[in-house]
Amino acid sequence: MSEATIDSATGWWRTSIIDIHPGSIRVRGYAIEELIGTIGFPDMVWLMLRGELPTPAQGRLLGAALVAAVDHGPQAPSIATARMAATCGVGLNNAIASGINALGDVHGGAGQQCMELYAAVAARLADHVADGMSVAGAAESEIAARLERREHIPGFGHRFHPVDPRAGRLLALVDAARGEGAVTGEAAVIGRAVEDALAARKGRRLPMNIDGATAVVFAELGFPSGLGRGLFVLSRSVGIMAHAWEQSQQGGRIKGPMPPSIPYRYDGAPPRPVSGDGA
Ligand SMILES: CC(C)(COP(=O)(O)OP(=O)(O)OC[C@H]1O[C@@H](n2cnc3c(N)ncnc32)[C@H](O)[C@@H]1OP(=O)(O)O)[C@@H](O)C(=O)NCCC(=O)NCCS
Repeated sequence: MSEATIDSATGWWRTSIIDIHPGSIRVRGYAIEELIGTIGFPDMVWLMLRGELPTPAQGRLLGAALVAAVDHGPQAPSIATARMAATCGVGLNNAIASGINALGDVHGGAGQQCMELYAAVAARLADHVADGMSVAGAAESEIAARLERREHIPGFGHRFHPVDPRAGRLLALVDAARGEGAVTGEAAVIGRAVEDALAARKGRRLPMNIDGATAVVFAELGFPSGLGRGLFVLSRSVGIMAHAWEQSQQGGRIKGPMPPSIPYRYDGAPPRPVSGDGA
């Protein structure tokens, strides 16, 4: 085989993440045996995605966001889907994948859109800072424009929680990290301004939810918005796996979303005969 062919074949897959040789595994240049037992899992996530090890404060904050989004109970569609799948005779990996596939723009995946929203507010502010626009003003005009288009504001509102306990705690940790100089605090200011602007427009508070709060953390830590959903999936996968496993141990078979004794509502055509002439 010619050298040119070998060169083009070895260049087929390029990665700067990992280098493996017989007896040697290096992640981003670090020997795996030095990482094992030295760094925590959030630090490993950071190293894989960012190429460098985080500072202790960065690693703690990422870990906090990953802890926060792990689970929201068996009625959360991602968890319910995994539990239902686990009663259908599929393997644990299929049940986990089923749950993950329920995470979309409205459930769990809004964090990515919310990071884009915070970036849009920051861009609006940068464009109008010479005109004296404040963060509150930038948030108000961005929210007004989106509500006029009848959009839901990603990262805000919750079906169960008047105030999401996870959001307050995560923002408090961001504030503490800003105190240590680990983050700028700019995304937290924007997130709070968006919450206020939304409340003013709607006439009631739609609280920052887990996606809005993790979006603040991920933006503060410098993650691109394109990774927002992936990071949420990483976190929720732990809850999905625990529920799928618990369900498989409980031994239910073909469980639907409700006990069969509770009917659903049919709103279609009344009973009618098939005419038989194809008409
Ligand atoms: C999470 C969510 C589905 C909760 O739904 P809900 O409380 O049942 O709210 P509904 O979609 O039924 O809307 C109820 C009212 O609140 C408004 N509302 C709720 N969340 C809103 C949001 N994020 N932006 C704008 N309006 C919102 C609706 O427009 C509606 O207003 P109306 O009564 O004037 O028509 C909803 O808030 C949402 O879609 N949020 C954005 C996506 C998101 O962040 N998802 C992650 C959830 S953890």
